[in-house]
Amino acid sequence: MLKKVAILANGGDVSGFNAVIRSIVKTAEQNNVECYGFIEGYKGLLENNYIRLDTFNTASGILHKGGSIIGSSTNSNVFNYKVEENGQVVYKDLSDKCVQNVKDDGFDCVFTLGGDGTQKSARDFSLKGINVIGVPKTIDNDVACTEITFGYNTAVSVAAEAIDRLHTTGETHHRIMVLEVMGRYAGWIALESAIAGGADVALIPEIPYDINKAAEKIKDRERKGKRFSVVVVAEGAAPKGGEITVEGTRDNGAGVDNTKLGGVGPRVAKELEKLTGLEARNTTLGYMQRGGTPTAFDRVLSTKYGAKAMELALEGKFGTLAVIKDGKLDSVSLEDVVGQNKVIGAVSGNTQESNIRKVTMDHDLVKTARDIGICLGD
Ligand code: F6P
Repeated sequence: MLKKVAILANGGDVSGFNAVIRSIVKTAEQNNVECYGFIEGYKGLLENNYIRLDTFNTASGILHKGGSIIGSSTNSNVFNYKVEENGQVVYKDLSDKCVQNVKDDGFDCVFTLGGDGTQKSARDFSLKGINVIGVPKTIDNDVACTEITFGYNTAVSVAAEAIDRLHTTGETHHRIMVLEVMGRYAGWIALESAIAGGADVALIPEIPYDINKAAEKIKDRERKGKRFSVVVVAEGAAPKGGEITVEGTRDNGAGVDNTKLGGVGPRVAKELEKLTGLEARNTTLGYMQRGGTPTAFDRVLSTKYGAKAMELALEGKFGTLAVIKDGKLDSVSLEDVVGQNKVIGAVSGNTQESNIRKVTMDHDLVKTARDIGICLGD
């Protein structure tokens, strides 16, 4: 019998966190289950810091709100946690303390809202005997085994609106307008927003680009009377035979990918300017893609995910991730989600080694983009 459950939101925030939380809480209340929320993801689990969640007080009026009412943490890999000992920084596996907290508090299930790194830790907790159920979150849309993550649709909508706006200013000043979007090693946001916004070029990590191909497309447009072009570049896109552009490093702890991507937009703009003779400008969209109100689609998807996660808990189907498969709600084992990252302590997070879902060349989005003449840089 399920009596008491807890939710944690972990990793970079997305629009839709609160919609999932609300949905879990509502479904829990329908089934006489008490709901709690750990503050700032796995950090809250480690510090045993949690609040009661109910739809008449703490979890009220949150469906449309960005961010997360229980916070989220991007640097709390409790299997490799940064601590200070005798004035020195050391990394420790503090997961047993978390396990003890869950047992002491009497939580029958912990819902882990997060991306691949979060679900890797969830799988590891599952192996340690904790009842966990994951819900796939990330604007990057790259969690394995599901067709869509919550937060992605909002990010695409924000990017599409940016493309619309770049169109009019680009057209007015006869410029090449480059938009750098997020997505890390997956090109979903770039590709889908390029189609939604009617961009002329989309450069994604899955297709190493030849900048000359993009320049040719732009020059061809110019010859035909279109003196402006819009280029969408995923932050993880790289030229053929070249490297990803890196802005620096971030401190998301040990055992995770700490590469801070960024800078490919200005680089592409500069190269296109040289090759075409047209003026080019870059806009980096950044965290606009993660903040603010979720789209109606994301509110519904998040609500579906939350209800499904609670349903899985009620059925005792622990160690799973709520997913969308063939357009329908379903679940898969966290083992399948973790994929190649089988070993406890193996690198997690947005790494190339982890089991992230990338754009495949036979995907409808790639085919459609090619069909309507969007240049993919190859
Ligand atoms: O994974 C989500 C994401 O927004 C990526 O698209 C981006 O590369 C990264 O997070 C930024 O991470 P941080 O919040 O650590 O700057």
